[in-house]
Order: sequence, then structure tokens, then C-alpha cells
Amino acid sequence: MWKRLLLTTLIGAALSGNALAENLTVGFSQVGSESGWRAAETSMAKSEAQKRGITLKIADGQQKQENQIKAVRSFIAQGVDAIFIAPVVQTGWEPVLEEAKDAKIPVFLLDRAIVVKDKSLYMSVVTADNVLEGKLIGDWLVKELAGKPCNVVELQGTVGASVAIDRKKGFAEAIANAPGIKIVRSQSGDFTRSKGKEVMESFIKAENNGKNICMVYAHNDDMAIGAIQAIKEAGLKPGKDILTGSIDGVPDIYKAMLAGEANANVELTPDMAGPAFDALEKFRKNGAQPPKIIKTESRLFLPADAQAQLDKKKGMGY
Ligand code: AHR
Repeated sequence: MWKRLLLTTLIGAALSGNALAENLTVGFSQVGSESGWRAAETSMAKSEAQKRGITLKIADGQQKQENQIKAVRSFIAQGVDAIFIAPVVQTGWEPVLEEAKDAKIPVFLLDRAIVVKDKSLYMSVVTADNVLEGKLIGDWLVKELAGKPCNVVELQGTVGASVAIDRKKGFAEAIANAPGIKIVRSQSGDFTRSKGKEVMESFIKAENNGKNICMVYAHNDDMAIGAIQAIKEAGLKPGKDILTGSIDGVPDIYKAMLAGEANANVELTPDMAGPAFDALEKFRKNGAQPPKIIKTESRLFLPADAQAQLDKKKGMGY
């Protein structure tokens, strides 16, 4: 009798979605730990996997594509059920993705896109509209200045990363019809706080000790926070003498807003893994093909929203 009971329970469990999820193993090739947002994304991926009973193996690429490619090859060798990649740069992925395809392992891209001829090399990309993110900051600046001229310095993200390319494009598009607003300097700060500060220091030196700079547009918050530090050390007031605009929505940027030191921010959700797990589970259950792009929301927040945003961040991996 008890044997029959055990068998029924096992069959029942095997047929339920939960049992399926419990058996899944996903390999995640993460970019690195360059920013507060990145750390939150990793932490959310872990908690989403745990909630679903999925075994998640994370490999830190330390901002190097070669490390990420090695990690993907190792996941293929281990026979994982799916691979998530947050690709540091947008090109050079074909060979390793062909290997994953040959091994019949579905690949999901998180937060950054890639350029490949054959789109069947990956299942879906979970990403924000990064052109729109840059555009939202640019539109805000145009409105804020109401026709006044402005010299902008730009802290770009990692060279070759899709998000850096798109955020640059969106901002440039937004200011294109405002002849007084010009990008006078633009350089990569590699999405890190320390590099953002270092590059901003050089911009300040080159631009009459910062007096010729009206705004810093940073492709992420960590670089903006580094820039704010550099502005203060130069004896200027961030948020007033030099306006700031950046992307991510990490708690520190809202704290800077509350202190009057930051002006505009576009939030990027750190929950990129959740929608990818949803799509993967549906695909495993009934073969449902997920959309090629799973788009996350992009919204502009200003100092009046900072406290609410800061409160919202608790429990979001920060
Ligand atoms: O790809 C998303 C970007 O990568 C985030 O905006 C940035 O903080 C991170 O390094």
C-alpha cells in the first residue's frame, strides 16, 4: 500500500511544473561586478532562481568577453538546461553560440543585446529600450534649460557594449534640435565609480576647472556618483553648478538627489533574470516560443520622486 502511495506521489510530482523547475540547472555568465546595479541584478537572479527551485551557476566574467566565452563553454560541457549571458560587448558571440545551439541548449541574453546575423542563436533578450533611456535624459535637459546654451560632458559605458552605444545615440537624438546644447567631451568610464571620477576630473581640468561645463550625462549611476565626487573636490556644486543625468536607479543616486546633488535619473530594473526564467519555464512546459525581445520599463525620475524611489529599492537586490 505505502509503495503505491509513494509511486503516485513521485509521478504526481514529476508531472507538476514545480518538479520540472526543481530539476532545472541554468548557467549564468555575468559581466562582472562593475556597478551597484550589476550587484543587484546578480542578487535578484539568485533569489528568483531560489524561489523557483532552479539551480543557478554564476560565472563572473570580470568585464572580459574571453572569460564569458570560457564560462559558456564550461556550461555547455556540464550539460546545463539553459544559459543566461549578460554580454559585455555586442560582437564576437557567433562561434560559442553555435556550440550552444549544436548542444540544443537555449540561450537568453540579459540586459545587453548582441549583433549576430542568425537570430536563432539565442532565444530572447531581456532588455530595456536603451535608446529611449538616453532620450529621456536628453529630453529632460532640453526642457530644463528652456533654450539656454549648455556644454555637456558625457561619461560613456564600456566600449562596445550595446547599452553604451544605444544610450549615447538616444541622448544625441534628443539634443539634436537644441542648437545651444553641445557634447564638448565624451569618454568611457567603463561603468565604474572610480573610472567615472577619474574621467570627470580630467574633463574638469580641461574645461576651465569645470566652469565651462553645464551638465554631466553619465551612462550609469556609478559613474555619475564618481563624477559628483570629482565636482565637489573641484569646489563646485553638483546638481547646481553642474547638472547631472544618469541611468540605473541605484539607492545612492536617490540619496544624492535628496541632498540636491543629482538632477535626473532613468530607472533600470535589476530583475532581468525573472522574465527570462518565466520564458524558459513556459518553453520547457509547452514549447511556447518567447518573444525575441522581452522589454523592461524605462521611466524618468526627478528629485521629487527620490524618497519614494529609495523606499521602493528595499528588497530589489540592493
Ligand atoms: O547593462 C546594464 C548596465 O551595465 C547598467 O546600466 C550598468 O550599471 C551596468 O554596468
